[in-house]
Amino acid sequence: MKLFCEDCLYRLPKIENNSIDCVITDPPYFIDGMGDNWDTKELTKSVKKSGIIGSLPVGMKFDPQQGKKLYDFTLKYSKEIFRILKPGGFFLVCNQPRLLHRSACAIEDVGFEIRDVITWIRNGQGKAFSQDHFVKRMKISEEEKVEILNSLSGRKTPQLRGCHEDIILAQKPKDGTFVENWMKWGVGLVDFSYKIDDLMAANVMNVPKPSGKERKESDHLTMKPIKLMEHLVNLFTKENDVVLDCFMGSGTTGVACKNLNRNFIGIELDENYFNIAKERIENA
Ligand SMILES: C[S@@+](CC[C@H](N)C(=O)[O-])C[C@H]1O[C@@H](n2cnc3c(N)ncnc32)[C@H](O)[C@@H]1O
Repeated sequence: MKLFCEDCLYRLPKIENNSIDCVITDPPYFIDGMGDNWDTKELTKSVKKSGIIGSLPVGMKFDPQQGKKLYDFTLKYSKEIFRILKPGGFFLVCNQPRLLHRSACAIEDVGFEIRDVITWIRNGQGKAFSQDHFVKRMKISEEEKVEILNSLSGRKTPQLRGCHEDIILAQKPKDGTFVENWMKWGVGLVDFSYKIDDLMAANVMNVPKPSGKERKESDHLTMKPIKLMEHLVNLFTKENDVVLDCFMGSGTTGVACKNLNRNFIGIELDENYFNIAKERIENA
């Protein structure tokens, strides 16, 4: 286990070419303060109040720059991932559905093949807003307000209840055939002997959101369930492989790797999350 409390854009260039078996990561989503200048304290403070940032529910502040910034940022770190992954190595990147396309294009533009998108199904909360308060503040007669409110009946802003997140499955181009690549580099094939709920792994995974206990240990705003990360580690790596997470957060990928006997390199910018990750991985 090698853990670094650093900016991954500083650490990744120091890693050797073709040395990593698999990258599994959950980068900043570039929504509502969760960009490359992610500020834990400010964000946690606002979200803890009521799940609202800048008067809108988390994740719903619409700014056309978000997608562009996500693309540019993904391009920068993905270039390094492409260099350090072994040929045929898998690159798994979590995404918020609204901006997934930007992330996918950047990953493809640095040379990866997009093999699939894995959908993590979880139970989400409604975030759509009624517009009644807006109508009630309009400078029109009460009768007109009633008429508008009746016509809006049940209508809210365009935010469906978020019940999935998506994980891009990209692969660095292989060195020869699948078998030749496997013989030379030991990566590039998926372990379908690992079953999920007794079934062959599919590109949809039903995993409940992190339990109360997991949440308490992690204290991360966007933590992933350990079970989900274990599914990915089991399917896309083998024992003793080197797995990298360059946006480690509270270390969930690291915990999954420790549980499953994989080597792990974790990078996290925020000192508070870094310390939580270190403790969780040590305790695993
Ligand atoms: C979506 S969260 C990861 C959460 C993680 N999956 C978990 O279960 O705890 C993204 C993390 O990336 C970190 N981060 C943002 N920019 C970074 C950078 N340039 N280098 C390293 N870490 C960064 C943030 O501090 C945040 O903890």
